[in-house]
Amino acid sequence: MALTKEQVLTSLEGVAAPDGTPLPRTGTLSEVVANDGKVFFSITVDAGEVQAWESVRKRAEAVVRALPEVKSALVALTAERKAGAAPARSPQAAAPQGPRHGAHGGPRGEAMQGVPGVEAIIAVASGKGGVGKSTTAVNLALGLSALGLKTGILDADIYGPSLPKLLAIKEKPQTIGGTRLKPITRYGLTVMSIGFLIEEETPMIWRGPMVISALTQMLREVEWGALDVMVVDMPPGTGDAQLTMAQQVPLKGAVIVSTPQDLALIDARRGIAMFKRVNVPVLGIVENMSYFQCPQCGTRSDIFGHGGARHEAERLGVPFLGEVPLHMTIREKSDAGLPVVATEPDGAHAQAYRAIAAKVRDQLEGGTSGRPAPRIVIEA
Ligand SMILES: Nc1ncnc2c1ncn2[C@@H]1O[C@H](COP(=O)(O)OP(=O)(O)OP(=O)(O)O)[C@@H](O)[C@H]1O
Ligand SMILES: [Mg+2]
Repeated sequence: MALTKEQVLTSLEGVAAPDGTPLPRTGTLSEVVANDGKVFFSITVDAGEVQAWESVRKRAEAVVRALPEVKSALVALTAERKAGAAPARSPQAAAPQGPRHGAHGGPRGEAMQGVPGVEAIIAVASGKGGVGKSTTAVNLALGLSALGLKTGILDADIYGPSLPKLLAIKEKPQTIGGTRLKPITRYGLTVMSIGFLIEEETPMIWRGPMVISALTQMLREVEWGALDVMVVDMPPGTGDAQLTMAQQVPLKGAVIVSTPQDLALIDARRGIAMFKRVNVPVLGIVENMSYFQCPQCGTRSDIFGHGGARHEAERLGVPFLGEVPLHMTIREKSDAGLPVVATEPDGAHAQAYRAIAAKVRDQLEGGTSGRPAPRIVIEA
């Protein structure tokens, strides 16, 4: 018999909140998602009470995991700030030097301590959806890997995870010791996506706070191992959810993807402003779908007004990282889980992505954070 939400809630009656109230009656629980033996929910408490609730979160997770039908359980603890209260962490603390050197209290602080073994985390973001952010993130990660950097990729687009498709990953991550997840390896990349844990048909009822907390867990409860760089594919947009995510992840920098049209550029500008607000350096802009290249004759047409992102980058004083044409091969390969950098490494597209990756690497090495540059592994 399939596991139901009600069974999960009944099991949680035996878990007490810090004041002794059974958890389901505290009003802190989100909607419970129970799908194919995988259970997710969040507990939202006041920021000041987070520490007292961490043991409740752990116990809730253990109790749910012990149910006969449950294959995995993810319980997220979310700190909610009361309106008008001081931020739990100042924007200064979100600066890239924060993670390893800053001292922050509480779980938000822990999130900013970085991910053990991971040297640099960079976000790939866009103001607007559908501009090719995930495609760029995957090929950029592969480009960094081709440059000899041990690279991971995290799909933080919890509303519409793409990595399972873009990397044709069907298997589910294994758990290690029942609590930590082992990421998937594909084309030499260490990969994790919330999409691995949710069936495609599952309604995306994740609300903002739950998303953020799930993200923190994906950073901290996954065995990432030693990585020079982790590329994070962010959800589109520059709203509060994205801003908080940007603050939650100890980012060393952000890559903004835009198409050349004015409208996309306005959104890209918002994205840049958002990262600047939280003191995350913008490593640069990539112009995707920069121009159309006919797959038959190779003729190029600037259907979107090529060059917009380069001008915008100049105007805003951020590096321009390169352009990628709108090309059928990129779309077909990408959507088939065969990213061009891995499957057509000698092609012009792969070369374009590798050139972008090299610029990103240079930005990281010459970074402003004072943190050590990524180790460069030279393969024999
Ligand atoms: N340079 C390109 N040439 C041709 N097709 C492309 C290119 N870049 C991306 N695409 C295609 O455009 C579509 C959207 O790309 P992608 O999913 O990477 O965008 P996204 O910005 O991540 O979208 P979302 O906002 O939904 O997360 C996909 O079908 C992808 O294959
Ligand atoms: Mg995407």
